[in-house]
Amino acid sequence: MAIKPVRKAVLPVAGLGTRVLPATKVIPKEMLPVFDRPALHYVIDEARAAGIEHFIFVTGRNKGAIEDYFDIAYELEATLEAKGKTAVLDALRADLPGAGACSFVRQQAPLGLGHAVWCARELVGGEPFAVLLPDMIMRSDPACLAEMTQAYGEVGGNLISVQEVPRAEVSSYGIVDPGARKGALIEMRGMVEKPAVQDAPSNLMISGRYILQPEIFGILSRQTPGAGGEIQLTDAMQTLMGESPFHALPFTGEVFDTGSKTGYLRASAAMALADPEHGAEARAILQALLDASR
Ligand code: G1P
Repeated sequence: MAIKPVRKAVLPVAGLGTRVLPATKVIPKEMLPVFDRPALHYVIDEARAAGIEHFIFVTGRNKGAIEDYFDIAYELEATLEAKGKTAVLDALRADLPGAGACSFVRQQAPLGLGHAVWCARELVGGEPFAVLLPDMIMRSDPACLAEMTQAYGEVGGNLISVQEVPRAEVSSYGIVDPGARKGALIEMRGMVEKPAVQDAPSNLMISGRYILQPEIFGILSRQTPGAGGEIQLTDAMQTLMGESPFHALPFTGEVFDTGSKTGYLRASAAMALADPEHGAEARAILQALLDASR
């Protein structure tokens, strides 16, 4: 059977961002700037680099800034044009997804990641799709999802990215039970959401990038609450594993978890240091702060 390409991506952005309050009282956590652009911007860039054509945002109340960000800011563009600021204007326009490339659907209640993904079922339809958790900024070349779509083109089925974490941290993540190694991929035997340290089948965590077959939606519609009383995507994937091929791609780049205050700080500092225009100055600023705090 021909392997269908992955054209659509689901971005669950309904979370309340309680770990980064108070800023998230009025700003969606996905819109907090990581150096010079919202965290979500990096994730959309990653999806684009993987050939994604349609972005499905699963939003919630108070997330209107996300819709505005991916729309033309008419007054701003007119002002930049009038002032001759063409470089900034060109950059803004280049970043804008095409007309009709973004869809928005609301998750009406915070019932878990599995439920958020299920809310996108009508927009995804009957084709394979990607899920990108916007808390996680992945830095690598090629980009994580691009590496995954390439591997998917060879094996089809379902694919997730995984990364090693210290054993003590396994209860914060979905953890996989790895089977045989197949080239760059690992066959999946099982997975469990937020296991106790002593029950974890490995220290490989599910790092927030998924390629899934649409059969997951039927499973999610029957999924009962799991870890934390939430409908877990991990539990539905465990069931899907019995029905269709499932692999993991160990991600070897850097993962920045912007969902916590210090993770957010780390991501901002890393992106500032890597900026071609401001990197050297950022380094001097950070170094001076460190020296002064000794
Ligand atoms: C979610 C997933 C989990 C994954 C994690 C990565 O958990 O449920 O499997 O390992 O993202 O960040 P959450 O962070 O929403 O609790």
